[in-house]
Amino acid sequence: MSGSLVDLAVTIGDVTLKNPILTASGTFGYGLEYDDFFDTAELGGICTKGLSLLPRAGNPPDRICETASGMLNAIGLANVGVEAFCTEKLPKLRARGVTVVANIFATTEEDFAALAIRVSAEAGVAALELNVSCPNVDKGGLLFGCDAIAAARVTAAVRAVTTLPIWVKMSPEAGDLKGVGLACQEAGADALTAINTIRGLSIDVRTKTARLANRTGGLSGPALKPLALRMVWELARAVTIPIIGIGGIATTDDAIEFLLAGATAVQVGTASFADPTASKRVLDGLAAYCAAEKIAARDLIGKLRA
Ligand SMILES: Cc1cc2nc3c(=O)[nH]c(=O)nc-3n(C[C@H](O)[C@H](O)[C@H](O)COP(=O)(O)O)c2cc1C
Repeated sequence: MSGSLVDLAVTIGDVTLKNPILTASGTFGYGLEYDDFFDTAELGGICTKGLSLLPRAGNPPDRICETASGMLNAIGLANVGVEAFCTEKLPKLRARGVTVVANIFATTEEDFAALAIRVSAEAGVAALELNVSCPNVDKGGLLFGCDAIAAARVTAAVRAVTTLPIWVKMSPEAGDLKGVGLACQEAGADALTAINTIRGLSIDVRTKTARLANRTGGLSGPALKPLALRMVWELARAVTIPIIGIGGIATTDDAIEFLLAGATAVQVGTASFADPTASKRVLDGLAAYCAAEKIAARDLIGKLRA
């Protein structure tokens, strides 16, 4: 269905994606783990797990738990490191024709720039997504994403060393989200992705301990959707660069809501854990919707009525 004649292409800065459905960082591995389920090259793109300069083991277990309306995670950015990604994972993604967005994370501007330089040396990366909004690390993360000046400095440091498109990932915990978004735009971001998780807590009343070893974790899934939708809508009216919407998207209707609110593309996250084909299902549903409505996917962007 997604290979039909319906025009699903969207443009984000200099990049045209074949459709607006991507997978969210940290919920789709390195894009290779879902090969048994569907051809991931059909998606608009995949965002890699957050890559750091050196491999990271992440936080001790338990690192995830379910809540009534989503999940909490405190993975702590466990990843293979940028070098292993570039030499072991990326060539396979390239061979499969997957559109790859490299999500990167560091605790200093210099290390963000070093990561950008390393990834930019490889062919086959469509964009860099800067994770300045991880709630599960002591350094970096929210300290960057909640502060317009700090987020802009990271963006500018990366802008100075790469010609790859830069997407900056917003935190729902930023008091002045529009201010952070505008500052990143000024500093050279090509798009904003919104939103990352928001910190939550879950307690086991029998043991009287937090369910996560880290105590707090990032809340994702259905609970996030109305919040994310409102933030995407607000950001889309504040900045001129495209917004990529994320937060609780599990169905085609969820994705269309984000497009109507002003997102140019969306990312499917936690839903992939319950249904590994969630992103493909959302994509097929979008193709069917656009065919029935006789519209292109881009015609939905920002069409929320007064
Ligand atoms: C287990 C897990 C790991 C994640 N790891 C990352 C990460 O490495 N980098 C990042 O920018 N976001 C990460 N995220 C945030 C997601 O990309 C997404 O922004 C968030 O989960 C909201 O979308 P969802 O409700 O569809 O899951 C992670 C989320 C989960 C659930």
